[in-house]
Amino acid sequence: MQNKSHQTMRAVAIDEFGGIEKMKPRKLPVPEVAGDEILVRVDTAGVGVWDPFEREGGFAKEYGMKANFPHVLGTDGAGTVEEVGDEVHNLKRGDRVYGINLMNPKGGFYAEYTVIKANNAAMIPQALSTRDAGVLAVDGVTALDGLDKTLKLKAGESILILGASGGIGHLAVQLAKRMRARVLAVASGQDGVAFVKRLGADKVIDGRQEDILKAAHEFAPKGLDAVLLTAGGKAAEQAIAALREGGRAAYPNGVEDVPQAHDGVKVMNYNAEPDPRTFAKLNELIDGGPFEVHIARTFKLEDAAEAQRALENHYVGKLALVLN
Ligand SMILES: NC(=O)c1ccc[n+]([C@@H]2O[C@H](COP(=O)([O-])OP(=O)(O)OC[C@H]3O[C@@H](n4cnc5c(N)ncnc54)[C@H](OP(=O)(O)O)[C@@H]3O)[C@@H](O)[C@H]2O)c1
Repeated sequence: MQNKSHQTMRAVAIDEFGGIEKMKPRKLPVPEVAGDEILVRVDTAGVGVWDPFEREGGFAKEYGMKANFPHVLGTDGAGTVEEVGDEVHNLKRGDRVYGINLMNPKGGFYAEYTVIKANNAAMIPQALSTRDAGVLAVDGVTALDGLDKTLKLKAGESILILGASGGIGHLAVQLAKRMRARVLAVASGQDGVAFVKRLGADKVIDGRQEDILKAAHEFAPKGLDAVLLTAGGKAAEQAIAALREGGRAAYPNGVEDVPQAHDGVKVMNYNAEPDPRTFAKLNELIDGGPFEVHIARTFKLEDAAEAQRALENHYVGKLALVLN
């Protein structure tokens, strides 16, 4: 097998933390693979709403990590395995994989190649293209960890998903339906409502225009069993207020206007924790029938700064960088 480690690759990196102007297209060495890692030829990189936080040094500070500059940005993506470390037995060269690379000193997904711990990657579900899987890893694991590990959602329960047309939300709607819950989806805008209607939610409303509390009471007159919040503020407060006594709310850390505790219900925060079992469960649920991972807009690698700027605008699903 030809070893890539002495070759260079196109990447978008920063030499120090800061604003969008720090992002520069570069030629950098292809990272070397350790025993528990895989080298991936990147097809698609997700552009997450948290990527500016990475660029500004937020994750480095939060996790007490020292960045290895030039730091290649990008926390998730998908592609094809190019090399595997000696200790990796579940993946092989040529496999289509998706995965998570948060503040890896060897760099992230805004590059032609990236190195990932094998445990942070998984085979792409058969139903999905490599392109679509490029925006799945972080939001898919976050959606599933919210529904399954945090809310412990059961078949037959009612759940409100706030931000249902967003990255986590559109995946959570479909996963919750696969888990046989009743789903009230709160999307953003007319385009968000039209998009989420085709994802199988039992009821979809526009959370920017409609009364969330009223819709929730109509949907679950005795109160909702659970809510998953991917946005905060007044809409989140209304969703929590629609819970039944003993109901559960969950939000991933990072949601702004942090949801507050309320008497009589549980409000839980959590972080996505990628591991092989979670990826296996996510893949199993996705492969249970048609599943849509939606990319609203793609950008070339060299236009990564423009992609991060576009995060500020309204869109449904996710943004992505395409490498070829
Ligand atoms: N801790 C973790 O492990 C973890 C992992 C992943 C993500 N996160 C965090 O989770 C949050 C969500 O991530 P994401 O990728 O899903 O982001 P996203 O794609 O921006 O999704 C949030 C969605 O909420 C919508 N929204 C806002 N207010 C609304 C309202 N009143 N009614 C209906 N919809 C509304 C937004 O619509 P507009 O387009 O109109 O704004 C957007 O579609 C972010 O804060 C992110 O940092 C945390």
